[in-house]
Amino acid sequence: MDKLIVTIDGPSGSGKSTLAKLLACREGFFYIDTGALYRSIACLFSTKPTPKELDKLSVLWKKVNTEYHLFVSNRDMEPCIRGEEVGKNASIIAKLPFVREFVNNVVRENVNRGKYVVEGRDVGSVIFPEAQVKIYLQADLKERATRRAKELHIQKDIILDKIKERDEKDITRKDSPLVIPEGAHVIDTTNKTQEKVYTEVISLLK
Ligand code: DC
Repeated sequence: MDKLIVTIDGPSGSGKSTLAKLLACREGFFYIDTGALYRSIACLFSTKPTPKELDKLSVLWKKVNTEYHLFVSNRDMEPCIRGEEVGKNASIIAKLPFVREFVNNVVRENVNRGKYVVEGRDVGSVIFPEAQVKIYLQADLKERATRRAKELHIQKDIILDKIKERDEKDITRKDSPLVIPEGAHVIDTTNKTQEKVYTEVISLLK
């Protein structure tokens, strides 16, 4: 097969990145995190960018040691994009249709021959509706908050409301809201280990 695309959609803390990283590490998939690009745009432009400013950016996902990082105009964005405040701002600029169009085009341009796992909030529904395998991950809000709190080393109560707010924005936006893509395999990860989720997804690839 000259191109295999696996898409993973779902809300914050549902386990998208964990699963995508396992597929990259164990199965040799090239990993594209679309949220990283929305986060990077939110980081680079304190007010909203213009379409011209976006067009000047060069965007590339590259392997750094064992992980994939996003480079924007040759800058490794990983150190500055993971905080919850950046996530909130990313969700705000993600409402803008020209920003979505830019991200979608860049992501499609970065997918050539080979095996790709692409994660986000509209990847199986809008960017790659033709993907061979589509996954939608979900989990209880409390469990998602626990996971994010652990990841960001902050208190669960602080993050819970922020996740709720971000869910609301992502689900209700007019352009490409977070939905279960047609034909997607829905996996609830609330009470499942990473290995269990991984094994379920691997069985879908066979
Ligand atoms: O997955 P994440 O937390 O890194 O994403 C940050 C925000 O970016 C998310 O709240 C909404 C936006 N996003 C989006 O609108 N579409 C995507 N495909 C990926 C992310």
